[in-house]
Amino acid sequence: MTKRREFIQYAGLASMALASPALSFASRAERRPFEQVPQRFAERPMRLEGDWPSTLKGKLYRNSPAMLERAGFQHSHLFDGDGMVQQYTIANGQVSHRAEMVATEKYLREQAAGRFLYPGLGSTPPQPKAARNNDSANSANISVRKIGKRLFALWEAGSAYEIDPDSLATVGRVDWGEALTHLPFSAHPTIDADGQWWNIGSWIYGGQALVFIYQLDQAGALKRFKRLALQQAGYMHAFCVSQNYLVLVNTAHLYQHKNEGNFFDKFQFDQQGHSQIVLIDKNTLTIERTIEIPANFVFHFGNAYELGNELFFTMAEYRDAQIMSRGLSIKETSVFGPNPVSYPSELCQYRIELNSGRWHKSGSGLSMEFPNFRQTQPFSPQALVGCGQRLNHGGQQRLEQLLQINPHTGTSDAYTFAENVSLDEPLYIQDSRGEEFIIHSFLDRQQNESGLALFKGADIGAGPIAKAWAGGVLPQGFHGCWVSA
Ligand SMILES: [Fe+2]
Repeated sequence: MTKRREFIQYAGLASMALASPALSFASRAERRPFEQVPQRFAERPMRLEGDWPSTLKGKLYRNSPAMLERAGFQHSHLFDGDGMVQQYTIANGQVSHRAEMVATEKYLREQAAGRFLYPGLGSTPPQPKAARNNDSANSANISVRKIGKRLFALWEAGSAYEIDPDSLATVGRVDWGEALTHLPFSAHPTIDADGQWWNIGSWIYGGQALVFIYQLDQAGALKRFKRLALQQAGYMHAFCVSQNYLVLVNTAHLYQHKNEGNFFDKFQFDQQGHSQIVLIDKNTLTIERTIEIPANFVFHFGNAYELGNELFFTMAEYRDAQIMSRGLSIKETSVFGPNPVSYPSELCQYRIELNSGRWHKSGSGLSMEFPNFRQTQPFSPQALVGCGQRLNHGGQQRLEQLLQINPHTGTSDAYTFAENVSLDEPLYIQDSRGEEFIIHSFLDRQQNESGLALFKGADIGAGPIAKAWAGGVLPQGFHGCWVSA
């Protein structure tokens, strides 16, 4: 099943032309997964297929921008849907599902008003109110993470929201400290080897280019906070962590203040400019080095690690930012349209010589998004799991794959789903005996039904060993986490 393949070597040049979609949500369903979504799903058992191991016990949480419509207005960018946290409970060979909206201040005000009140990031409702602070439009819709005993629904331009891990009731907006109210806290907190967490917040307003660094202890309490000035106001969604560094990619998608337009309209991709790899020393919280690379765009990273005097990390790299401006809209130009448009990424590994700052890049030949690694071994070379497609097949391929690749060895494996199946982010999980599985939700557009698929981690090419079906369409989302019972 496993194939060994050579990475494509780059000599400091921009990515080659790629020809297939990474994020593909092509829709033939009668109801698209972001339309007419109920505001809660009561708990109910899912229909099972195959054998769900009795040793697998826990909850899969996923966040989705679920509510894009109110009072006859539909937001036109997926990022503007109010967040809904879905909870899949797996125990005793059974699977159940439930979901609740995150009761953000935005959601509660708009519930009371019966309409959307605030401008979104990519689209604006009629007669919008002026945003009062960074949390006015906070829809807490990108990710959900458990840190210590606390579960957080996360956005990226404002505060985290804490939610109850069992009932999914919203506990409230999180203030990490008195002077930190409403500051951006990204949707991608990243674990350190000792169980502490790091996060960033991007502040690109008022002509500033700042990044906020948060260090949280194992229980999810703030330990350190630092503001750092960057050289350009590039869009940053996530980052990665190695033994000694926080690794940021400050993309060439640059923010420039304008009075008109939506938030995303204020970014312009500077094709002639550069992206910058920023290495931040974890001990001193200072920028040790900024390395220019050709202009690129990235949402997501694999893990990072240092071997000797070299730092390795992977990212799902785009040639430009059209995935953001056009691909994640829900218009004709999007990955959701009736004739979906491709916005391919390529999973690439970067190797940095720490003494000189020289960089080298290798392409995997995989258009892979939502890369994930084993949280228990964050600094080990290892196989990443994600979803997408192999590149270079003429651009006709529309089948989505669960992909696994070890960027260090080039070893990869894949499972190809049937036509009209869209995959969500896959995660590594373990059962009570320590056996590894991969789990992800999906939408079967032919059947008009969402589900969960479970693979053995050691052999994804063999296909899912079990599935669970929801009996209808659930919102598709971005990120989630697994919490063992
Ligand atoms: Fe993300």
